[in-house]
Amino acid sequence: MKLEDYINSHSEAEPEFLAKINRSTHLRMINPRMLSGHFQGRVLSMFSHMIKPERVLEIGTFTGYSALCLAEGMPDNGILYTIDCDDELESFILQNFEASEHSKKMKLIIGDALEVISGLDETFDLVFIDADKAEYQAYYEAVLPKVKKGGYILADNTLWDEKVLKPVDPKDKDTIAILEFNSFISTDQRIEKVLLPIRDGLTLMRKK
Ligand SMILES: C[S@@+](CC[C@H](N)C(=O)[O-])C[C@H]1O[C@@H](n2cnc3c(N)ncnc32)[C@H](O)[C@@H]1O
Repeated sequence: MKLEDYINSHSEAEPEFLAKINRSTHLRMINPRMLSGHFQGRVLSMFSHMIKPERVLEIGTFTGYSALCLAEGMPDNGILYTIDCDDELESFILQNFEASEHSKKMKLIIGDALEVISGLDETFDLVFIDADKAEYQAYYEAVLPKVKKGGYILADNTLWDEKVLKPVDPKDKDTIAILEFNSFISTDQRIEKVLLPIRDGLTLMRKK
């Protein structure tokens, strides 16, 4: 048995409607590995139940899987904004949101994340950063003023397939950006942070 299978089978089961999105993403998308998946999805759901956020911002929707996990612990009057620049995903995402019990909370915005964030007149209890790796620090700086004091930011893929430990190819812009982001975050005094070895690395930050 693989460690991943052991972890999954000793964690909360994947809800059926999310398992369906997981399967259809694997059937229809070229890069289904981008989806958070069973284990990380249950971690996001657990954080959401702990924080009970009224306002959530997700940067990088893909097929809507992680957005629906984050919606699970939100109150009925909560709003989750999720941004993706790929307009070809729009109808699939909306179909997935509408098939869920959280559809009323979900607000999909198609556009470039940095442009959309600058026009959002909201403050957030929780932000999930999971889009272009080269832009992580820019997303962080753009969202931090919009995060409530004591609010949380999660950044995905911060171990980047363990490339953070290996010699870096100078042409590999994504790995360089993740290394710079991790190094910057580790000394930024505006937040408390912990890099959790969950899946591909999940950095949890709390605004002071
Ligand atoms: C890793 S996937 C998101 C996975 C999703 N959060 C999940 O866990 O199921 C990254 C997504 O970010 C989107 N993206 C990349 N660059 C972007 C940008 N500049 N603005 C908005 N979305 C972007 C991509 O289209 C892609 O769907």
